[in-house]
Order: sequence, then structure tokens, then C-alpha cells
Amino acid sequence: MTAWNFAAGPARLPDAVLARAERSLFARDAGGACLNEQPFSGAAFRALRAHATRQLAALINLPDDYRILFLAGGAMQQFSLLPLNLAAPGQRVGYVDTGYWSARAASEAALHRPVLTLPPPGEAGLAVPDDLAYCHLTTNETADGLAWPELPAAPAGVPLVADATADFLCRPLDMGRFGLLYASAQKNIGVAGLAVVIVREDLLARSPAGLPGIWSYARQAEAESGVNTPPILALQLAALVFDWVAGQGGLPAMAAANRRKAALLYGAIDASGGFYRCPADSAWRSPVTVCWQLPDAALTGRFISEAAAAGLHHLAGHPRRGGIRASLYNAMPEAGAAALAGFMADFARRCA
Ligand SMILES: Cc1ncc(COP(=O)(O)O)c(C=O)c1O
Repeated sequence: MTAWNFAAGPARLPDAVLARAERSLFARDAGGACLNEQPFSGAAFRALRAHATRQLAALINLPDDYRILFLAGGAMQQFSLLPLNLAAPGQRVGYVDTGYWSARAASEAALHRPVLTLPPPGEAGLAVPDDLAYCHLTTNETADGLAWPELPAAPAGVPLVADATADFLCRPLDMGRFGLLYASAQKNIGVAGLAVVIVREDLLARSPAGLPGIWSYARQAEAESGVNTPPILALQLAALVFDWVAGQGGLPAMAAANRRKAALLYGAIDASGGFYRCPADSAWRSPVTVCWQLPDAALTGRFISEAAAAGLHHLAGHPRRGGIRASLYNAMPEAGAAALAGFMADFARRCA
């Protein structure tokens, strides 16, 4: 029986990446050292960083006036670094409230700067006061199973900032709409310990001189993400993932595969006659984090344990939301989604 891992992150890596990693990550060179045994100021690490930067920039078609930072730590670290770098003391920052993670980002920012909470946009688009230092959104809410159907245009004069942790590299990205975008690695980029931050160069001038070097986007950009020892192993894995995404046909191919996988699960939800309930508005249903509820906690528990017995693992919803969550990030093959959709239909037939 094939085992499928639907964990929300740390999440499955592509099989081909795991195989390459096993062969290459700890191979020693002629000098008797693998990359994690060498100074990060040396040629080998610089070559890795240059390759990862080039490959990622090509995947997202990055305009020339942006910088890619590879920083230690995860997305939550950026929840604090954003207000500290981009907003002057006392200046308001805006947070679009779409669910669990956008609310957490806002509450961390509120430790540093006054936060204005904004509702998700209706037909008229995002309405953003022009005194804000930036306007933050979460492209995909992993706990709630929601994704922006289309990312908004940048409001005049206020840079858009995005937490793209859940769906980075899962669909084409128009980076020109954003002043800054960040994602931690353990869902679609590689393994925990690394965050990618992509920032428009003019915003680097906002980092205050008094900020500790490892927290300062400007200092990290100047040092090519090397103010201190970078998470080398995590970057090696990221580079393997970037190569893999490029080899699969890039972001349009990822988006098409993700749509096909999600259609299988939403198809099973919609065909269940209300047995499975998906709280997300249909336009906002996430293609990569599919969340649904069963009629009660006992059936939810039974679904999770019977699914595991059938080889379908890590399906429990976010602890704050309950229910079921299936993460279908780039590395999940269509066969995994098909196996889960088949189980869902069978379970609904038996238990509805
Ligand atoms: C959308 C989103 N943002 C932020 C985070 C926090 O990421 P990290 O644990 O890397 O700080 C998560 C984790 O699941 C997430 O899903």
C-alpha cells in the first residue's frame, strides 16, 4: 500500500528531490568537506547561493529592482521584522484579516506598531488609507483553507506585503504588485529553518540603522543574506526544489497540477450531499490546503484513523479549526489526491 503524507508543513518533499538530496548533500569534495563543513564565505557556498537566487528569480520572473534574501528562521520571524524594518515608530500598518494566519501576523505586528485591521476586499477591491507604511495580506490561509482568488493590485502609495508561505511557487506570481513577499520553506521550498524574503530595493532604505544586523533587511541585502552563518542545508534543499520546479515546467505547470488535485477533493466534498462541509466560499477555496468538516467529532476521529489505516496520513485539521485538512502542495502527486478522493467517497457512502 502506498503511504501518502498530507501534512501541512513540514510537508512532503518531491520524491526526486529526496533522491538527489540523499546522493548529494553530504558528499565531500576534493578538499575533504561537504558544503556544511566549509566556511560560508567560501566559493562553494557562494556558488550555491548564486544558483538558488538565479533559479528562483527565473521561476518567478523577478523584475530587476528586487532582492532575494535567504534568512534563517521561519515566517513568524518576519511577522516582527516587517514592522521593525518598514514602518517608522508610531506609523500605522494595515493587515487584511482573512483568517488564522493573517490575524497572527497582525497581532505580532501590533507589538511594534499600531495596526489597522482591514476587511477582505469586496467588488471594489482593497480600500487602503494612504498613511499606512504597508498593507499586509496572507495569500493562502492554511488553517482555514482559503486563498485569494486573485491577488489585488497595489494600492497607490502603499506597498503590498504578502505572507506567501502556503502557496509560494504553487501559482504564477506577479511580483510587481508587491513591495515585499515572504515564505518559510517547509511547505513548498524545502525544509524548516529558512525563509525566503523578496523585497523591492527602494524599501531597503527604510530599515533603521539601529536595528540588529540579523534583523535588518538592508544589512542582510548588503551581506547577501550572510550577516551570520546562513542555514546552508536548508538552502541546499531549496536549490534542489527550485531545480525540480523548473524541470516540471515552472509555475504554470505547478498551478495546473494543483488545480487538478484540488478538483478531485472538492469534487468529493460537493458530491457528498452535505456530509462533508467546506466552510470556504467557493471562490476562495484554496487549491493547496483543502479543509472540510464532518457532522461531528466522532466521525472526524473515525475518518482520520480509517484514512491512516488506508495509507492516508496527517489529515487532522489545524488544532484551532478542527475537522480535516489535506495539504496538496507542489510535491503531492495527483495519485495521492486521487487516493484520498476515493477514500472520501467510500467513507461518505458508508457513514452518511
Ligand atoms: C500562512 C502561514 N504563515 C506563517 C506560518 C508560520 O510559519 P513558521 O512556522 O515558519 O514561522 C504558517 C505555518 O503554518 C503559515 O501557514
